[in-house]
Amino acid sequence: MSRTMKQLFLFAAQLGGFALNLLLLVHAQDQSGFISIDCGLGEDSRYNESSTGITYISDENFVATGERKLVLPEYIRKYSQSYNSLRSFPEGIRNCYKINVTSKTKYLIRATFLYGNYDEQNEVPEFEIHLGPNLWDTVNWLGNSKVKHTDLIHVPLRNYVHVCLVKTGSGVPFITAIALRPLTDASYNTVKGSLSLIGRRDIGLTADLRGYRYPDDIHDRIWNYLENQGAWTNLNTSSTINSEFEYQTPSVVMGTAATPKSSNDAFNIFWGSSDDTEVHHVYLHFAEVEKLQPNQSRQFNITTNGELCHGTLAPDYLSTTTIFCTAESLGGSGVQNNFSIIKTGNSTLPPILNAYEIYEVKEFLISDTNQEDVEAITNIKSTYNIEKNWQGDPCNPQVYSWDGLNCSYHANDPPRIISLNLSSSGLEGEISSSLSNLTMIQTLDLSNNNLRGSIPEFLSQMPTLNVLNLESNNLTGSIPAVLIDRWKDGFISISLCENPNLSGNVSCDKKKNRKYNFFVLMMIVSVVALSVLLLSAAAIWCRAASKRKRRLGNSTDANVAIQRKGRRFTYSEIVQITEEFKRVLGKGGFGTVYHGHIDDTQVAVKMLSPSSVQGFQQFLTEVDLLMRVHHRNLTSLVGYCNDETNIGLIYEYMANGNLREHLSGSRSNILSWGDRVQIAIEAAQGLEYLHYGCSPPIIHRDVKSTNILLNEKFEAKLSDFGISRSFPTENGTHITTTVAGTPGYLDPEYYASNRLNKESDVYSFGIVLLEIITSRPVFSRTHERSYISEWFSFMLQKGDIYSLVDPRLEGKFNINSVWKAVEIANACVSPTAIERLSMSQVVADLKECLATQLARANPRHETEIKDSIAMLHPSLR
Ligand SMILES: *[C@@H]1O[C@H](CO)[C@@H](O)[C@H](O)[C@H]1NC(C)=O
Ligand SMILES: *[C@@H]1O[C@H](CO)[C@@H](O)[C@H](O)[C@H]1NC(C)=O
Ligand SMILES: *[C@@H]1O[C@H](CO)[C@@H](O)[C@H](O)[C@H]1NC(C)=O
Ligand SMILES: *[C@@H]1O[C@H](CO)[C@@H](O)[C@H](O)[C@H]1NC(C)=O
Ligand SMILES: *[C@@H]1O[C@H](CO)[C@@H](O)[C@H](O)[C@H]1NC(C)=O
Ligand SMILES: *[C@@H]1O[C@H](CO)[C@@H](O)[C@H](O)[C@H]1NC(C)=O
Ligand SMILES: *[C@@H]1O[C@H](CO)[C@@H](O)[C@H](O)[C@H]1NC(C)=O
Ligand SMILES: *[C@@H]1O[C@H](CO)[C@@H](O)[C@H](O)[C@H]1NC(C)=O
Ligand SMILES: *[C@@H]1O[C@H](CO)[C@@H](O)[C@H](O)[C@H]1NC(C)=O
Ligand SMILES: *[C@@H]1O[C@H](CO)[C@@H](O)[C@H](O)[C@H]1NC(C)=O
Repeated sequence: MSRTMKQLFLFAAQLGGFALNLLLLVHAQDQSGFISIDCGLGEDSRYNESSTGITYISDENFVATGERKLVLPEYIRKYSQSYNSLRSFPEGIRNCYKINVTSKTKYLIRATFLYGNYDEQNEVPEFEIHLGPNLWDTVNWLGNSKVKHTDLIHVPLRNYVHVCLVKTGSGVPFITAIALRPLTDASYNTVKGSLSLIGRRDIGLTADLRGYRYPDDIHDRIWNYLENQGAWTNLNTSSTINSEFEYQTPSVVMGTAATPKSSNDAFNIFWGSSDDTEVHHVYLHFAEVEKLQPNQSRQFNITTNGELCHGTLAPDYLSTTTIFCTAESLGGSGVQNNFSIIKTGNSTLPPILNAYEIYEVKEFLISDTNQEDVEAITNIKSTYNIEKNWQGDPCNPQVYSWDGLNCSYHANDPPRIISLNLSSSGLEGEISSSLSNLTMIQTLDLSNNNLRGSIPEFLSQMPTLNVLNLESNNLTGSIPAVLIDRWKDGFISISLCENPNLSGNVSCDKKKNRKYNFFVLMMIVSVVALSVLLLSAAAIWCRAASKRKRRLGNSTDANVAIQRKGRRFTYSEIVQITEEFKRVLGKGGFGTVYHGHIDDTQVAVKMLSPSSVQGFQQFLTEVDLLMRVHHRNLTSLVGYCNDETNIGLIYEYMANGNLREHLSGSRSNILSWGDRVQIAIEAAQGLEYLHYGCSPPIIHRDVKSTNILLNEKFEAKLSDFGISRSFPTENGTHITTTVAGTPGYLDPEYYASNRLNKESDVYSFGIVLLEIITSRPVFSRTHERSYISEWFSFMLQKGDIYSLVDPRLEGKFNINSVWKAVEIANACVSPTAIERLSMSQVVADLKECLATQLARANPRHETEIKDSIAMLHPSLR
């Protein structure tokens, strides 16, 4: 803590002295907030340990597996009873304790190990300890009688922590004790990660005092003796050292110190690290223990690995100052890190050190499963007394995820449970309502159990559930009507065979539909049901495009009024339309697109590949959106087909393919600069309409040049709404659990936060603009700057516009128009969303850009370039 901070703290302490003292008093007197678990202690036992007075309790309520063991008699410790018993885990790879904590509290978590030859094998095992899904430490190098502590400073985000012992193949994991001690919020810097202890030392102790812990240290930190190798002089005071600061270093620890024997020497401490990627935190605790004369001073600088961390510190008399330094580790085995306390020129006395702590920063990157999912599955586990080895976090780490469930894993989001298979698990009783809290579940299999009671209504309200197997139970009553509707509409497949007491017309012809290997009555999708059921917020509306006529200027509205409802076609009609799927136009993520004719009109028919559940969801989204959304710059739906297993969409035919083809040179003609800007305007208008013309707004999520289609008149239309979403929130922001979209076009902020908003589309549109300007691929392995955005910002810095623009344009463009486009693109691809333009601004600016181009087609000219630099967006200058 810096001097000023300390003074501030003192000031605050005086102001809030009463509350603070009360707090300290409470801590000092009892073990409030302590959790002290003696592993392997008999059920319901508790005792006060002789040496510390700490009250230990049995671990029975925190763990469901393992065996209680005792160390051999020669290792029994009379005064440290907590070391005498342990729990070993011969069964299973991972075994976990679950300990309730106060979330967002800073804790010191300590796991203790004493082998004590409990299994008479005389072979110390080696294994891992995990905190939740993350590796905390490797437990090794223990002797029979050596006690190992592993300390971690950690802020749990949930109201529990999992401490897991993981077998690595070198013996049976065990654990002796687990302790949790709350710390003050202001102590220890956990911003970059949790802190794993490397060493905590009390300096200047005489050898017979081995160290201190509770009750001397109210947080039960264990301060170990560090041997004086002869280079120091020990100092001490019998006065109390004021330690009422955030670290609350005990007075007895601060009362002893050491100073180099030779008055000009530095105080050096060395320690190791396992590799050079580690970052260490060093906490140095200082207090002057000698009363200095007026002509004496003690002042020093502190360096870690040669870098200055703190300059000209003069510790206060009998008052603790804690300095926090960071040290980037220098390397692996044999390499020593160091800190040095170096006297300044002014100082008459050599430096002093009272105590220090060194920690390694552990970034725990793997997140726990979504909390609601954890609560739901935990309830299910206890409701049915599930015997499976369900311990620790359900989904993470992925290799140890719970048996019978699958999860989805996306970027930094907590995993979600997406399927649950409890078939043949001996479930008794009714279908648990906790299942309704698994809100992302797609597949639920409860077959072959002894479930009774009726089929609950909530099963029909689970938005993502699309496979439900309740076969071979003893369910009664009737099937909820809504569930039957959903099933008729093809949203869900249900299996109910062999429930003898279930009423209703349940046929069990297993041959009828092999698609899901169990009974599905039929699959009929009605248009009405689609629109009603697809999106929970059915109340999307979009402004009639005609109202926007004045803004669109000279637009013809002929295309706007495509028939309100798509037509339904049978599969045999589709076969006719496509002339037996003669001509393939393209292959998409979930199906193939064919050319076809309806009377004299050309169409494109997208057929969903069977088996694609994902595709089916996207199909539904797309139908639903296209039914509501009509704009001349969005592809329109002519009809659809949903004939048992054949699912297809019929669009207007876009004769000139997609924009990418024209930019990549796979077509013979080259789009002029004016054409390009016109196409950009049209695509931008389509997107603007989704963002501002619809309520709630629609986020396209997959804006890219291959999704901008061109008709025979080269009019651009945005297509592919398969992963679009509408959001009933005020500001149009939404957290998604799935990062969808195409690499290279993905908003970096969205990728990091999963906050989906209009700005993410703007980013993708900016990338399209870059393609339009440069004709370069969005991603190219052969270039040094493989993403177009990287290349663009690199070229922009060089300021050479001619190397940015597609060389095939051969300079046939108005330079000011191009600069304007560059400026727009640059504002769209800004890494921070708030700096981006809105699509309305983009449309307006692009129109200006077109006007500039049309005004006069100027040959390039040096002075013009200079002028245009002057008018750049501020971020480009
Ligand atoms: C243990 O200590 C607590 C106070 O910390 C006390 O209330 C309790 O009676 C003690 N128990 C035994 C068994 O000594
Ligand atoms: C932990 O808290 C939960 C409720 O949040 C409770 O059901 C459970 O019994 C607690 N566990 C222990 C060991 O106290
Ligand atoms: C304090 O220092 C004196 C000598 O200066 C020594 O005799 C005594 O043992 C020291 N006390 C402790 C607790 O180190
Ligand atoms: C400091 O003053 C004391 C007398 O008060 C004197 O003995 C000592 O030599 C002085 N030390 C220095 C470094 O000037
Ligand atoms: C501490 O480490 C730095 C960086 O390696 C080195 O330059 C310096 O000499 C070391 N200090 C001591 C006292 O060894
Ligand atoms: C100590 O740190 C100060 C900066 O606070 C610096 O000016 C001075 O040169 C340093 N002295 C030594 C001996 O490193
Ligand atoms: C040296 O000490 C004097 C008096 O303590 C102080 O005024 C001066 O600023 C110090 N110089 C440095 C470089 O710290
Ligand atoms: C989980 O996924 C695997 C592999 O895709 C699959 O074999 C298994 O059946 C799935 N389990 C559940 C419960 O859906
Ligand atoms: C579902 O979760 C909510 C809060 O997340 C909770 O209030 C409710 O009790 C849960 N329902 C069941 C049946 O567990
Ligand atoms: C099924 O439930 C009925 C009553 O609901 C009961 O009479 C019958 O014994 C149950 N059958 C089985 C196999 O448990």
